[in-house]
Amino acid sequence: MAKTIEILVGTTAGNTEFLASELENELKQTGFQTRFHDLPSLAEVAHDQPWLICIATHGAGEYAESIAAFMEHLATQQPNLHAIQYAIVAVGDSSYDTFCKAGTDADTLLKFLGAKPVTELLTIDMMLDPEPERTAKEWLKKFTQVFHS
Ligand SMILES: Cc1cc2nc3c(=O)[nH]c(=O)nc-3n(C[C@H](O)[C@H](O)[C@H](O)COP(=O)(O)O)c2cc1C
Repeated sequence: MAKTIEILVGTTAGNTEFLASELENELKQTGFQTRFHDLPSLAEVAHDQPWLICIATHGAGEYAESIAAFMEHLATQQPNLHAIQYAIVAVGDSSYDTFCKAGTDADTLLKFLGAKPVTELLTIDMMLDPEPERTAKEWLKKFTQVFHS
């Protein structure tokens, strides 16, 4: 049976949701099933399937709106995530000192809770990258090859 990828979206203004939906299309085209969480919640995200987390940084290095409560719940409830394999696309803008901090904070938290990174975190610089979707799709191959083998 095809693996189901849980896609968790952290967006405030929509850029990251668009990026995540492009990655969802790519996953479907390469034989995966997906579940798209535009407002992730601990109760709804499966704990026995890989997580692909697409997360923007806002404020001064804070989690984007749609995923802030989810991250807060992870931090306070500290569920055991040993069964989770994950990868992170961190979206930001390099003109900020806190470039992609939400993504790197999420990475630290997931590792603390026992989750296993499948590949290195990707940072997307929305100020300098003319083709963020293309960059992310190229990186996605490293994620998918783990589950295709
Ligand atoms: C008010 C504001 C604060 C931001 N703060 C940061 C930041 O601290 N670090 C960073 O890397 N990017 C920061 N950004 C850039 C956003 O991450 C970038 O615009 C991204 O595309 C927003 O994604 P979204 O449309 O999915 O919310 C900020 C953007 C705004 C509008």
